[in-house]
Amino acid sequence: MLRGTAPAKINLGLNILRKRTDGFHDLNTVFHPIGWGDRISATVSETVSMTCTDSSLSCGDDNLVIQAAKCLQELTGVNQGAVIHLEKELPHGAGLGGGSSDAATTLQLLSQLWKLESSISLDSIALMLGSDVPFFLNKTTAYGEGRGELLTPLNDYRFPFSLAVIVHPIHISTALAFQQISPQETNQFNLIETVKSNDLERWSKELVNDFESPIFSQWPLLLETKALLLNCGAGYASMSGSGSAIYGVFESYKDAQMVIQEEAFRGCATWCETSIEDTSIF
Ligand code: C5P
Repeated sequence: MLRGTAPAKINLGLNILRKRTDGFHDLNTVFHPIGWGDRISATVSETVSMTCTDSSLSCGDDNLVIQAAKCLQELTGVNQGAVIHLEKELPHGAGLGGGSSDAATTLQLLSQLWKLESSISLDSIALMLGSDVPFFLNKTTAYGEGRGELLTPLNDYRFPFSLAVIVHPIHISTALAFQQISPQETNQFNLIETVKSNDLERWSKELVNDFESPIFSQWPLLLETKALLLNCGAGYASMSGSGSAIYGVFESYKDAQMVIQEEAFRGCATWCETSIEDTSIF
């Protein structure tokens, strides 16, 4: 049996630039992997099937895990299958990339399990499954362009903050969210430079998620959540992807830990982590 983890991502800035002739949108963003994630295990079998700890999720052909497995099987002509088990921790429809991350980890696990040649490129298969699946093959902070698949890893970047993520039980369809956007190429800031500055005041002025405006008008609770995170000490707060997850970036791990205990966030899925090396000073 092989096991792997499928981490979530947050978007540090997300500018939707233009609608393309293929129906997708060109965008700029920085994808940043976080510690919250699903766990996946797989064993060889004759056919492809899956089980999942979340009974609200389909284990059929509409699950990206099954799609990833069948796509890999067809494109490589392998005559093995797999039984895949998904331990679901990440909320779906939250803009955290959970389904995409599951798909990427499934591709990696099965190419090992089926002993596929290492020359087989998983990148093109990943893009067939979704625009941000290629990012999850590398799982390092990266600048994304195009549909989100043209990736420049920010290898020397370190995120030196604590993070609190709040997910209300609101599921947002990415396709519908894109339909509500009027793309504008107005952001004059260099996203990579802004992120690398690690200056949260600068982030607040320069890092914009273009989905926030239409999604916040529809769901004022999400705007209130962002405001509450800022009031409770976040130096920067934003929605991730097309929502509904809202995250706060904190200089203090204690503040990040305290905010997820707020009464207003009862009934939410929450996550808190720190990259601050010495937490003993708190
Ligand atoms: O690629 P993915 O399956 O995640 O995208 C879901 C939907 O979101 C697409 O069908 C498309 O409508 C929209 N989308 C887009 N531009 C992108 C990514 C997604 O318009 N760069």
